[in-house]
Amino acid sequence: MSEEVALENLSYEDRAFAPSPEFVAQANATPALFEAAEKDRLQFWADQAAELHWDQKWNQVLDWQIPFAKWFIGGKLNAAYNCLDRHVNEGRGDRVAFYFEGEPGDTKVYTYKDMLREVSKAANALTELGIKSGDRVAIYLPMIPEAAIAMLACARIGAAHSVVFGGFSADSLSARINDATAKLVITSDGGFRRGAPFALKPAVDEAVKTTPSVENVLVVKRTGQESTMGAKDIWWHELIEKQSDQHTAEFFDSEHVLFILYTSGTTAKPKGIFHTTGGYLTQAAFTHKMVFDLKPAKDVYWCTADIGWITGHSYVVYGPMANGATQVMYEGTPDTPTKSRIFEIIEKYKVSILYTAPTLIRTWMKWGAEFPNSCDLTSLRLLGSVGEPINPEAWMWYREVIGGNRCPIVDTWWQTETGAILISPLPGITATKPGSAMGTLPGIVGKVIDDEEREVGNGGAGYLVLTQPWPSMLRGIWGEPERYAETYWSRFAEKYFAGDGAKLDKDGAIWLLGRVDDVMNVSGHRISTTEVESALVSHPAVAESAVVGAKDEMTGQAIVAFVILRGGVEHHEGEALVKELRDHVAKEIGPIAKPRQIVVVNELPKTRSGKIMRRLLRDVAENRAVGDSTTLADPNVMKLIQSGLSAGKSED
Ligand code: WTA
Repeated sequence: MSEEVALENLSYEDRAFAPSPEFVAQANATPALFEAAEKDRLQFWADQAAELHWDQKWNQVLDWQIPFAKWFIGGKLNAAYNCLDRHVNEGRGDRVAFYFEGEPGDTKVYTYKDMLREVSKAANALTELGIKSGDRVAIYLPMIPEAAIAMLACARIGAAHSVVFGGFSADSLSARINDATAKLVITSDGGFRRGAPFALKPAVDEAVKTTPSVENVLVVKRTGQESTMGAKDIWWHELIEKQSDQHTAEFFDSEHVLFILYTSGTTAKPKGIFHTTGGYLTQAAFTHKMVFDLKPAKDVYWCTADIGWITGHSYVVYGPMANGATQVMYEGTPDTPTKSRIFEIIEKYKVSILYTAPTLIRTWMKWGAEFPNSCDLTSLRLLGSVGEPINPEAWMWYREVIGGNRCPIVDTWWQTETGAILISPLPGITATKPGSAMGTLPGIVGKVIDDEEREVGNGGAGYLVLTQPWPSMLRGIWGEPERYAETYWSRFAEKYFAGDGAKLDKDGAIWLLGRVDDVMNVSGHRISTTEVESALVSHPAVAESAVVGAKDEMTGQAIVAFVILRGGVEHHEGEALVKELRDHVAKEIGPIAKPRQIVVVNELPKTRSGKIMRRLLRDVAENRAVGDSTTLADPNVMKLIQSGLSAGKSED
């Protein structure tokens, strides 16, 4: 090992799970997809686009002026038409689109016909408010059907939506409204979470004090709590009630902006990632059908992501609805009223495909198997994971306890920027390895390279890049074309750099190693946080862990680990457990990766989408004041961790 190595490849995994012959026999994806994409990539994508309804066909598949791509040029389509009218016109109107489950236990069922009616009324309402094609609309709602209805109503009339996650503050909301100069905000009085109503409207009232572009605020009544209605405010139900339920969709250019979605950047200013219509919808629908093996007339699909994240856009609204899927939508938290809530919902609706995040899987592990075991989960036939690297142990737990050893797992790698899944196993084709996202999907060209832009080859680790454009790629950062080029296309020549590290195992399978900003440098060895975290979680006492590099006089950086123990495991000050864990890491991946310090904590600092904020843990590990923690889901977590650290020094 030398300092030229971009990233060390430390851990090793040789378990593999091939799909069952029964699964293979019925799978949507076959090896012919790879052959077709290999033979002619652009024709392959054109074939996928042809699955959608186009009012006018494109005359050119791709225009690529690096880093700016246009797909299906000259084509015209409407995303909402593809998600609604097409199904109703072709006789699928009575199929359930959503089984909605409110946190308090209220339920509502929407068929595709119902959704078309609601979206048509909402489109008419937006038009009455003066919203036109090319305008921007901010959506700030809980996870309720109106969120999907509002998004599709915008798409129907050609207005770009900018969904802002309901957990964000008034300041974050106003910054996003102003960046996009949105004319309308769609919100609600509030929603239900952890057994109680929370308010959203007051944050909007606060935000719109500083957003001159906003002409109206449309308010869905969800909780019935007191809301102050000002001059710009209109109740959603009052406006919708008077609208016609007929609306003729207009068709827009393939490159018409469909939505903006903000992601936090390294600087304070969030990046307005924007996507356009034809390429995005093509790839969202294609990947949803193939990766999740969707059988639209049979499956009940449930993606637990909030509509405020890209996963909620691509794999709750656009992909599944373009495919005519039947879905579950749940408003609340997984532990309300009990830790079995998710499993009860799976049993109730006979969910067959579940798509969730490693953070939730590890939370379930921490709670213990008695909760999933108390429900009938035999309807499940496929499991998905997204958002973070999934540790092999969490993967195995997901497979055994949730999937009953019967369901293929798809670990899907993608980003807000990529719009759709790019790296994932294809169920029915891939023999999966626990913790690996396996390989690029057909039509995607990705590589792992070193600092000199050489491919690392099997057994090596480095930076994940994409060398060819793909239909659902971001078209830019809203209003900041230079920042777009600089952020994604400048580190390596003519390559999209995703910001993630990855390694290739001996068979060429791809293992994601986390953000390269998080990589630790211990005595000149660049070690990924993911590998050390996975080693810790492979110890039976550990449910979850976060690892950071802290400055160290001897080694440059030293590894500091924060661990959450599994339910039922006791830990006392100075106990042997810490030593055991350090030795365990050394045994699993080598002495170089042995943490200098291990701190047992009850919670880890996470963003609201469940990603660990290692930057804050680094501050703690280096005894600095903790930096900006405004995007934390629970702001108190850092105080608890700091007090835990000063109480229990576990160096030896
Ligand atoms: C991480 C979420 C490992 C990665 C769809 C990426 C993953 C970032 C995986 C994007 C996965 C997402 N394995 N890491 N399967 N999926 N990531 O924009 O670091 O919220 O760059 O999109 O999440 O997060 P975003």
